[in-house]
Amino acid sequence: MLLNFDEFFSINSKRMKKSVIRELLKLTAKPEIISFAGGLPSPESFPVKKVKEIVDEVLDNEGKIALQYSATEGDPVLREQLLKHASRNGMDVKEENLLVTTSSQQGLDLTAKIFIDPGDPIIVELPSYVGGLGAFNAYGAEMIGVPLDEEGKSAILLREELKVLDESGNKPKFIYIVPDFQNPAGVTMSLKRRHEILELASEFNLIILEDSPYRELRFEGDHVPTIYSLDTEGRVILLGTFSKIFAPGFRLGWILAPAEVITKLVIAKQSTDLCPPTFSQRIVGRFMEKGYLEQNIEKIKHMYRRKRDIMLDAFEKYMPEGVTWTKPEGGLFLFLRVPAHMGIDTDELFYKAVDRKVAYVVGSAFHCDDSGHDAMRINFSYPTEDQIVEGAKRLATVIKEHIK
Ligand SMILES: Cc1ncc(COP(=O)(O)O)c(C=O)c1O
Repeated sequence: MLLNFDEFFSINSKRMKKSVIRELLKLTAKPEIISFAGGLPSPESFPVKKVKEIVDEVLDNEGKIALQYSATEGDPVLREQLLKHASRNGMDVKEENLLVTTSSQQGLDLTAKIFIDPGDPIIVELPSYVGGLGAFNAYGAEMIGVPLDEEGKSAILLREELKVLDESGNKPKFIYIVPDFQNPAGVTMSLKRRHEILELASEFNLIILEDSPYRELRFEGDHVPTIYSLDTEGRVILLGTFSKIFAPGFRLGWILAPAEVITKLVIAKQSTDLCPPTFSQRIVGRFMEKGYLEQNIEKIKHMYRRKRDIMLDAFEKYMPEGVTWTKPEGGLFLFLRVPAHMGIDTDELFYKAVDRKVAYVVGSAFHCDDSGHDAMRINFSYPTEDQIVEGAKRLATVIKEHIK
């Protein structure tokens, strides 16, 4: 008789769900499908030649260190560069406030691991990054969604929600926010809202988990300070990553947080992967030292800005009247909404779109309350410029064909 593993799996593992996006991506992997679905950077953005130059140098000059285990907190060369990077971004960060991670997804997991007990309420945005929702769910968090408006999380709704929770003795541990060019909505939280959220966090004594993979990819408009830099009470944890400004294949990111939190995260990380990959860290550290990261970011911004413009123009031209979409000032995504009177459920439309050889991610995947059936996340970084135009035409056709 075969073993029934269901009797053995932990409660935690039973709670974990497959990533909807990863499942849908399998359907969109065929070459004839134009995919606006993945959150992938453009392969053209990868600095292959420069990485090769640095890999050779690292192996020639410091191979014995680069191929060894390193400290859980991270490789000293990369840490030094990250501290400088934070300071250039207006953040006064000390050694004890920094942890290098094996990417932001690990930052989300470790944060959930040290703060969430099963049943703990946490506040997430509606919509919110699906990988964050997955990480929090895995530790048994009760997610409470607060709608996002064009400017970011609506402070009024948030206050009402926090009051209700407070009065019922159900105080949330933290608020999860992606404030810059949000995944999925593409919107950026205004400075005013950031201050309001900090005030609410102070009033209701909450932690803020600020996840910001896209903030350096601003194509236009004014730079808005991180919530971390505005915080005077040490209640913000900031997650950063090299995935979108360098290469996701390196699986490297970082966390800035109060020293006490970093100490806990280090312990949690030790039972997860002992240390971040030393080889990747040394390469990225040397890459930054040479000023290559800044050059790379400039190149990416130029590339994605063009793609965004082409997409916005194509949507303007082909989408039926009434369909709306966000106009991101940076990042990788925009969010499209179909008005209710068209009677379209974007979960159902997805399969029709794939038949028409175009794909997106269903809006419902980003909503912890299963709303968002009128929405789709559209990525503009990965498809080529020609694919963006052709994909927009195909998507507009599918929508038009299914208006009820
Ligand atoms: C908001 C957000 N957080 C975290 C991640 C995870 O990024 P990574 O693990 O590659 O650093 C992503 C990836 O798309 C994201 O959009």
